Amino acid sequence: PVIFAVTPTYARAVQKAELTRLSHTLALVPNLHWLVVEDAESPTQLVKHLLSRAARRLPLTHLYVETPPHYRLMANRSHLRFPRGTLQRNAALKWLRDVYGSFNSSPPPPDGVVYFADDDNTYSLDVFREMRSTLTVSVWPVAFVGGLRFESPAVGADGRVHGWRTVFDPRRPFAIDMAGFAINLRLLLDKPDAYFKFQGVKGGYQESSLLQQLVSRDLLEPRASNCTKVLVWHTRTERPSFIYEGKRGFTDRSVEV
Ligand code: UGA
Ligand code: MN
Repeated sequence: PVIFAVTPTYARAVQKAELTRLSHTLALVPNLHWLVVEDAESPTQLVKHLLSRAARRLPLTHLYVETPPHYRLMANRSHLRFPRGTLQRNAALKWLRDVYGSFNSSPPPPDGVVYFADDDNTYSLDVFREMRSTLTVSVWPVAFVGGLRFESPAVGADGRVHGWRTVFDPRRPFAIDMAGFAINLRLLLDKPDAYFKFQGVKGGYQESSLLQQLVSRDLLEPRASNCTKVLVWHTRTERPSFIYEGKRGFTDRSVEV
């Protein structure tokens, strides 16, 4: 099966660094198609250039959709957080259905697995090997989320997921981070109306908003040695300081960073 890795990304100081690191990881994964979805009104030069170089190493598709600016403004003014990357992931789901979803589609849908790979996380190559055999939805632990060293599905002696090893709201239908699951492509094509909810989704419920439409908990397929190994880290990149930019003539906008 081919892995479709879906990466929402948006312009900020560290964007090129994040995408460079991620592209080099993904280039080492066999049979992977990278779906990069820019959160922008139109594709940016920086991402276009980066992807034209990355395309020599791995197949990829460049999409874009802008999160309506008023959501960001609203989020900045209040303590609310708008769901990040959601409209971008939904655009990738729509692309997959447009390309492979119609009856008699040409090309016919490949055996595929869809993974939501944010641009700032850290991925072991092993996580891609683990997800490739996904029949419905596969799951595994994620480090550095939910106020814990790692969160994990709780796997019983029968090898099934019977709950969630989390402190933050373990009653969520799927108490799992975006980086902790992958979905069989066929399942997404068979449920063409399943998308992430963008509005009215409580914090931590975004993943559930999609998975609830696709699978029940007892059908989840634990990976990473029955969810005992950490193969992905929810790292977040520090925002760099530019306090001396423009001071004493130190600035050069002609250099892409
Ligand atoms: C956590 C989860 O790990 C995310 O998968 C989830 O989307 C997010 O919470 C949420 O529910 O809002 P966190 O590290 O806080 O993630 O979020 P970011 O890494 O900042 O953003 C997630 C993805 O969306 C990244 O790939 C980022 O580049 C992208 N993004 C972020 C946008 O496309 N637009 C934005 O305005 C912000
Ligand atoms: Mn992140």
